[in-house]
Amino acid sequence: MVSSQDVLNIAYRTTEAFVDTIPKQERKKYGQFFTSRKTAEFMASLFAIDYAKEELKILDAGAGTGVLTIALAVQLRKNGYKGQITAVCYEKDAKVLPILFKNLECLNESLGVCYEIRRDNYLLSQNFNEIDLFNRVAEQYDMVIGNPPYQKIPKDAPEAKAMCEVCHGAPNMYFLFWAMGIHNLRAGGEMVYIIPRSWTSGAYFERFRSYLFRHCVITNIHIFGSRDKVFDGEFVLQETMIIKVKKTKEKSPYIRMSSCQASDFVDIRYYNVNYGTIVAPNQFVFLVTSAEELEILSRVNSQTNTLQSDDLRMRTGLIVDFRSREVLRDNSEDGSYPLIYSHHIRNGRVSWPDGRKAEYILTQKRGYLQENTDYLFVKRFTSKEENRRLQCGIYLKSDFSQYKYISTQNKVNYIRCDAPELAYGLFVILNSTLYDSYYRILNGSTQVNSTEINLMPVPSKDTIRQMGRELIGMELTEDNCNKIIDRWIR
Ligand SMILES: C[S@@+](CC[C@H](N)C(=O)[O-])C[C@H]1O[C@@H](n2cnc3c(N)ncnc32)[C@H](O)[C@@H]1O
Repeated sequence: MVSSQDVLNIAYRTTEAFVDTIPKQERKKYGQFFTSRKTAEFMASLFAIDYAKEELKILDAGAGTGVLTIALAVQLRKNGYKGQITAVCYEKDAKVLPILFKNLECLNESLGVCYEIRRDNYLLSQNFNEIDLFNRVAEQYDMVIGNPPYQKIPKDAPEAKAMCEVCHGAPNMYFLFWAMGIHNLRAGGEMVYIIPRSWTSGAYFERFRSYLFRHCVITNIHIFGSRDKVFDGEFVLQETMIIKVKKTKEKSPYIRMSSCQASDFVDIRYYNVNYGTIVAPNQFVFLVTSAEELEILSRVNSQTNTLQSDDLRMRTGLIVDFRSREVLRDNSEDGSYPLIYSHHIRNGRVSWPDGRKAEYILTQKRGYLQENTDYLFVKRFTSKEENRRLQCGIYLKSDFSQYKYISTQNKVNYIRCDAPELAYGLFVILNSTLYDSYYRILNGSTQVNSTEINLMPVPSKDTIRQMGRELIGMELTEDNCNKIIDRWIR
């Protein structure tokens, strides 16, 4: 008879053997990365289920070799659950199925867990609507555990079409699995998923977040300090997190957060954070890891305006340079206008021209040109190595007064200002340590997303002007911006 610990050991041995036989490229096709043992055990430990229930039904969609189901069943039995456990595992990769079958058979023998393997496309085999044409309610589970495939699919893929309620453009499989898992969750049921962090902000995930918070509340979040530790030796580019949601409308006053650097969770730290600090009213989710970050959030969240509400909307530059070659010029010509690139943003200013190619645009097309007025420009892309995510430069029309229009490459964002002090004031905000840190908590990627910036809480337009007046004449340093902002935002 196999013991409950052995069953997990066996599952991990077979998983390792499988990983050795299939090239990584092939596994990538299915978004196939297996959860490490410590991570699977941690995920299983998060469930807080009613042990008085006679039967518990588990869903593991994209089960791979079955390690998550096994870790969860082992945990339930270890905690003394005596009732019936039934696991339903979906898996569409034929190569992994024999291992999944063996592992679940072993689980059945050792812990009496019933299982069903469905060799099917999980997403297409469900009906995403609450009740389908034949009035069938979706299959319901008490617990959903998963490490969904991470894979972008076209917006007209059958999975995307079947779940258009949560999609915006070309979706990623991971949040379609997550949304479908919520659909399959019984009221009051719990779901633990390991997922990338990208869903927490941005317009692309807005529909998904709205669906998530219509049905569920977050109870736990775990953040990994390092990206390469979650999938034992398999370097994964995305930053990863574990989340537990509960299908209910009742929020707990706080979310149980945890974070660790080490792959074996030895250095795990726990902390409780107010629900409203993590899930903002605009449904962005802030992954706070320290008291310092909490303070940053509470300072910024004390502001009641947004760039959007103040008519200071940030927009993305107009020109995709490699698609508009016919209108680009290396030198000034009659009727040509400045074209601002992100490399022109330097030391808090826009230094144009700087002698590179295609710095002028010769066109009368209105869609390619914008009024020459005062602006704040912000780079859209920075690299991980750079110490600031928000890098901006003040552009004053008085420095380029010979031009009626200018144009912008699509790798810069810009905010149109009606006076220099407004451009200076916005610089104080976006060049401060406070807002750079806030933006990093909000968005794990290196791209500066204008939708997110437009929804950040900021001081009123009047205050921004006053901040700007204070900066005029000073050096455009982060330090000076911090001194000004510290007087206005406490
Ligand atoms: C990231 S792996 C996780 C495997 C396992 N749950 C674990 O945690 O180790 C995702 C799994 O989902 C499977 N998969 C991908 N698309 C699927 C789909 N549409 N339906 C069912 N399974 C799918 C892949 O073959 C892969 O085994």
